[in-house]
Amino acid sequence: MTESILKLKEGKFYIENVLVENIVKVFDTPSYIYSKKIILDNYLDFKSQFNNIDHLICFAVKSNPNIAILNLLANNGAGFDIVSGGELHRVIAAKGDPKKIVFSGVGKSKEDIELAIKHDILTFNVESEAELYRIQNTAKKLNKKASISIRVNPDVDPKTHPYISTGLKDNKFGVDEHNAISMYKIAKELDSIEIKGIDCHIGSQITELQPFEDSIKKLLALIDHLKSIGILIKHMDIGGGIGIQYSDEVPPTFSDYAQTVKNILKGRDLKIIFEPGRALIGKAGILLTEVEYIKNSSEKNFMIINAAMNDLMRPALYGAFHEIKNLSPTDSEEKNYDIVGPVCETGDFLGKDRLLSAEEGNILAVLDVGAYGMSMSSNYNSRPKASEILVDVDKLHLIRNRETFADLINGEQLLP
Ligand code: LLP
Repeated sequence: MTESILKLKEGKFYIENVLVENIVKVFDTPSYIYSKKIILDNYLDFKSQFNNIDHLICFAVKSNPNIAILNLLANNGAGFDIVSGGELHRVIAAKGDPKKIVFSGVGKSKEDIELAIKHDILTFNVESEAELYRIQNTAKKLNKKASISIRVNPDVDPKTHPYISTGLKDNKFGVDEHNAISMYKIAKELDSIEIKGIDCHIGSQITELQPFEDSIKKLLALIDHLKSIGILIKHMDIGGGIGIQYSDEVPPTFSDYAQTVKNILKGRDLKIIFEPGRALIGKAGILLTEVEYIKNSSEKNFMIINAAMNDLMRPALYGAFHEIKNLSPTDSEEKNYDIVGPVCETGDFLGKDRLLSAEEGNILAVLDVGAYGMSMSSNYNSRPKASEILVDVDKLHLIRNRETFADLINGEQLLP
């Protein structure tokens, strides 16, 4: 289990060996703060579960694309799951190895495919027949061979939020088993395509093992069928999706997850690829924010903070729960608050009905935001994006500057 990022010592909060107060003094709020130790511990713990089998961990870049974080993982052997040319660009900037990149996503553009082929990525996770032909044509034009896997939609219910469920037959992702077989047959005949693997990713924030087990079994049955018709699959990519604890969920441990995977794969000569995002980075990050105002009315108490839905979209988008802690000393009365941002939307809340005591100027921490926090942030209401800081034992590294007002209009132009 991941250790908690915030440590309380003699009434003060620390991240690794750094006083949170000092982080705020230097970098102000709102800021995303990450613990290098937790990121690495998670990654190395996950990796160690698969020591004895041929595997590759392709970190899901979309969960946290900061290049300092990608670089940290790349230096420890990680590969990457990307879904756009922009993410490919980030991996290259982070000195990641293109030969460890898998490229997923239903709408890969011609330009992105070309860029990926030029970089000799490990494989395209192909999501439609039309995409397969597009990859063939692009590779041929470049006089290269492109490696592919077909993303299979195993029609398994991951039992998670409908917006982040991807492996049901009415989702847009992947192709059904029947279509997958016909696509492999087509791929076998295409001269600029090399068949490498098979892929699936059934959803995110999954807290049960059964959906993983069911989808892997379906993929294995497909691999066997393909073998019987002369198509050899060298790797199986089982995607990401392992959940974390935000409130009272009980996600599987890495060891339980690994045991399940290894039991099903026993005796198979297959390389296995994973695409975890949240499980590696989610609990390694917090969002520090300051209380701007306390606003009490007869109906509700509002705590208005300087972070908003543009900084952390998950509560507004999915009704997601993130624990919120006051890190500052206060004598104020404990009350039930809706914790809201300055954005002009009723959906702009980071927490609802939270029992807290806090006063203007206090520093709050929003927990478990390392994944899909900064990566989903926006400039809505012309709010500059927060800074990002990585704590390494007793050192602070600014890994993304706070945006300025000038950044906000960068690229815009007045009419002549
Ligand atoms: N592989 C593929 C193809 C994916 O689409 C995703 C996530 C992952 C791997 C990583 O999944 P993870 O291990 O992080 O669960 N914004 C949502 C999550 C969307 C996930 C999208 N795909 C949230 O904030 O909960």
